[in-house]
Amino acid sequence: MSEKEIGMSKKLEMAQDNQKSIKKEDKLKENLKDVKNIYLVMSGKGGVGKSTVAAAIAAGLAVRGNKVGIIDCDMHGPSIPAIFGISEIRPGIENNKIAPIYPISNLSVMSIGFLLEDDDQPVIWRGPVKSGAIRQFFEEVEWGNLDYLIVDLPPGTGDEPLGIAQMLTTEINGAIIVTIPQDIALKSVRKSLTFLEKLNIKPYGIVKNMDGLVCPKCNEKIHVFGSDTGSVEKASEDYNVPVLAKLPLDPEFSEAEEKGEIIRWMMKESAWKSAITPLLDKIEDDNLNS
Ligand SMILES: Nc1ncnc2c1ncn2[C@@H]1O[C@H](COP(=O)(O)OP(=O)(O)OP(=O)(O)O)[C@@H](O)[C@H]1O
Ligand SMILES: [Mg+2]
Repeated sequence: MSEKEIGMSKKLEMAQDNQKSIKKEDKLKENLKDVKNIYLVMSGKGGVGKSTVAAAIAAGLAVRGNKVGIIDCDMHGPSIPAIFGISEIRPGIENNKIAPIYPISNLSVMSIGFLLEDDDQPVIWRGPVKSGAIRQFFEEVEWGNLDYLIVDLPPGTGDEPLGIAQMLTTEINGAIIVTIPQDIALKSVRKSLTFLEKLNIKPYGIVKNMDGLVCPKCNEKIHVFGSDTGSVEKASEDYNVPVLAKLPLDPEFSEAEEKGEIIRWMMKESAWKSAITPLLDKIEDDNLNS
């Protein structure tokens, strides 16, 4: 092949790849066309309550009567099915697409956890297989008409959350960053914000989780991670991203979550529910004003 011909075949290959990615994007856009708002829930650090916050937002909005979907993108520790008490159920088919699981009629859930034979089985798929499975969640699950789709990202700011956020950039309303009151929060919030900036995704706000434990005997607030030096508030000020909710560490809440009773928990009044209410109000207000 001459140099000119090699150049041409390279160009053709590139054009085909381009075509393929446009087609892929079309499929995702088409499948999510009746989804009004998409919010990512992320954290620069693992174990800070990302899935908890994502599930509480989804359950809280559904309890208020909205149509809500939640996607658990954590391939290695899918916890959303357990939080909703639906680990044993397996997805079926609806309109030739994968049917999500409905813990209540206006809340749909999809998780890799539904595709594993048992909870103890580790996922050892390689990168491309994992990203393919996640893409299917967006392209081939029958989400239908939704007011809100909440996406629980894998922890951190590495390849996996990056790949998922990149799939969705143009569709996302904003990203909610979950953190805890520790100095390391400042670093992890900064990491999350740099990640979002690179992808051109709007940081919607910060949730300060595990914000003290209220002693059931004396009602005093105990700072379980050492004294709260205000690092979350400092990060909020420095980067001009609001703190949308401060959620207490509540053993009763944790127990309800362990039992898969988050929807019931979000139906009753509690200090915990009051603490997440401003965030739910803001999401609904922004939807009304959009
Ligand atoms: N505000 C809270 N009150 C009581 N328990 C909480 C609270 N937030 C989180 N937890 C508990 O902390 C643990 C970790 O929370 P969760 O699984 O939501 O974190 P995560 O950030 O999603 O973790 P991972 O990085 O592994 O995905 C869970 O057992 C959960 O029940
Ligand atoms: Mg999680």
